[in-house]
Amino acid sequence: MSLLIKNGLIVTSTGRFIGDVYVEGEKIKAVGSDLRYKADEIIDAAGRYILPGVIDPHTHLEMPFMGTTTKDDYKTGTIAAACGGVTTVVDFDIQNKGESIYDCLERKKGWAKDKVAIDFSLHPGIVDPTPEIIDEIKDAVLEYGTPSFKIFMVYDFRVDDETMIKLLKETKKYGGLVQVHAENYYIVKYMNEILAAENKLEPYNHALSRPVIAEEEAVSRAIKMVELTGSRIYIVHLSSMRGLSKVKEARDQGLDIFAETCPQYLLLDDERYKEPGFNGAKYVMSPPLRSRENLTALWTGLRTGDLQVVATDHAPFDFNGGKDMFGKDDYKKIPNGAPGIETLLMLLHTEGVVKGRISLERMVEVLSTNTARIFGLESKGEIAAGKDADIVIFDPDRKFTITQSKLHMNVDYTPYEGMEMRGMPYLVYSRGRQVAKWQDDHVEFTGQEGWGKFVKRAPFKGF
Ligand code: URP
Ligand code: ZN
Ligand code: ZN
Repeated sequence: MSLLIKNGLIVTSTGRFIGDVYVEGEKIKAVGSDLRYKADEIIDAAGRYILPGVIDPHTHLEMPFMGTTTKDDYKTGTIAAACGGVTTVVDFDIQNKGESIYDCLERKKGWAKDKVAIDFSLHPGIVDPTPEIIDEIKDAVLEYGTPSFKIFMVYDFRVDDETMIKLLKETKKYGGLVQVHAENYYIVKYMNEILAAENKLEPYNHALSRPVIAEEEAVSRAIKMVELTGSRIYIVHLSSMRGLSKVKEARDQGLDIFAETCPQYLLLDDERYKEPGFNGAKYVMSPPLRSRENLTALWTGLRTGDLQVVATDHAPFDFNGGKDMFGKDDYKKIPNGAPGIETLLMLLHTEGVVKGRISLERMVEVLSTNTARIFGLESKGEIAAGKDADIVIFDPDRKFTITQSKLHMNVDYTPYEGMEMRGMPYLVYSRGRQVAKWQDDHVEFTGQEGWGKFVKRAPFKGF
């Protein structure tokens, strides 16, 4: 099967030009002007952008958490991803107690096998760091194709500083990368106790219980461990100006510190927790939404390069029967997380590119190219000959009002309800196969469950 996409605006992380893309089978064979290949299908992309498929490196699909399980499984989550222009996910695979990294990976690969609609990889989440697990890091990086490891500095399954040092030391040897959820456990505990004593248990208090200093301290501590070990670290879902300033300072010092933020921290502020009734629970996630000045600082960090990646932290729980069932009487019991896998590209284009906060090239860089490089997805992240034909033909003028009923995520709300989008995916390809298409007034899935493959990732090669 071959495909020739003609006359689109090809966007890379370094530039843009009107041109053609020729796809043979699963790969991009040629990129250029006026390509004359014979093809089974020819698409006129005039007036549209040709973008590399988005890579979301922060998802929680069918993840047991806080007494429940995230609502999207590998089928619904990756169908929604495809409809949003995401063609690869790197999902968190949190270890069960006593489980080896190998078994942990095989378990989640098994869940994905017949369901996953786009390519995927896994980050092992280390919560039971026995000596055997530390020894297995080498194989995970060099054999299993999973060179990044998630750790938490907060929650009951957090790791201590000693473990963090061991993991940094071990990953450094083989080209691994530790990803950190950076919040100080004891600051949150202290705040929870104060709020409980005052009987302040409504959703708004979630934000008060996790102040920016909790993130600032943990980011700062993680950075010190990198300085100590000479290793590298990737901070997930950075939410605050203070956390960002620590990242910037460390990067200016030449340390290998990388950080992602998410659309929710760029676009939604902590006023959301004051929505009437129990509505604030929709935004209960960790770290929490912040005040406006933080949002502005994160956009600046994204533009200047202090932040390298935008991911979703897709962790969907229903509002009715999920958030409210567990946490009606106490914000601490509200399952933490929000849906976002399908709205990533449209939000970053509308709020970032159309509003002039970042360039189109920068959008491609933080959604695809940087992500592929940092996480060792060597066949992904660019429109270039030899890469997988993961392509979004994007209609920059298409209008769409975000509403839950027109999205595919298996959850009963979106935090972005009613927001007006400018620019939507028109056609989405995963390794040369069409997986989504704009139809009438929304994007529809046109792919096939089970099409997605597990992608082995390469060790970190510098960034
Ligand atoms: O609130 C969040 N972010 N839930 C998902 C788990 C995590 O900490 O990333
Ligand atoms: Zn987290
Ligand atoms: Zn997360």
